[in-house]
Amino acid sequence: MSLLHTDFEKGFLNFEDLNTDPRLQFSAWLDEYMQYTVNDNVATTFSSIDQEGFPSSRIVYLRDYPSNGFVFFTNYKSNKGIEVWRNNKASLLFYWPELERQVRIWGYVEKVDEKLSDEYFKTRPRGSQAGAWISAQSQEIKDRESLEQEHASFLKSAGSEQIARPDFWGGFRLIPCKFEFWQGRANRLHDRFLYLKNGTDWDIKRLAP
Ligand SMILES: Cc1cc2nc3c(=O)[nH]c(=O)nc-3n(C[C@H](O)[C@H](O)[C@H](O)COP(=O)(O)O)c2cc1C
Repeated sequence: MSLLHTDFEKGFLNFEDLNTDPRLQFSAWLDEYMQYTVNDNVATTFSSIDQEGFPSSRIVYLRDYPSNGFVFFTNYKSNKGIEVWRNNKASLLFYWPELERQVRIWGYVEKVDEKLSDEYFKTRPRGSQAGAWISAQSQEIKDRESLEQEHASFLKSAGSEQIARPDFWGGFRLIPCKFEFWQGRANRLHDRFLYLKNGTDWDIKRLAP
């Protein structure tokens, strides 16, 4: 691990340049990130709260960010699925080193419409569709071999039939109530802006780095 103290100098963020709507600010930053990165997918850290009150984080792929929320797909019976069922307060964290940017988003999670989950499931490769069926995500399993066997036998019995979405698999949408945009700057004097939902508007504050 390098102990080099690198400075941040790829950009800056001024109050005057911020979009008054953080969802649009996010879209603008995401567009820039997609131009700079070699990744086709947008990974984000999704954090929920587990049964013992611990934060519980894992990476998921962001699949959609319409104006009413941030969508990812998963197994509803997984740990994260159970956690948001108990407590729908959760957060997303994006880190885009290419641009020295971080975005934190807090909000409330709900299931997306079944239609959207069906549509998305159809776009997945057949192997992934079968994987969604046979993987009891987050449960203990015997060994890798049994997982692969179940996958192969699922695909064999499906033949050439279309594979329908299992009802325990689908999308979650995080509806945001708070955003923080962070732009790395020299001498650790980073730019940080917090957006807090206030009715239909958003209040914006600059925070100390
Ligand atoms: C790059 C990357 C992308 C991932 N995307 C997803 C995803 O979109 N959905 C998902 O359920 N798990 C995804 N995972 C796996 C999760 O990080 C996690 O292992 C899994 O969802 C089980 O989490 P849980 O037991 O906390 O519910 C991804 C992992 C990585 C490293």
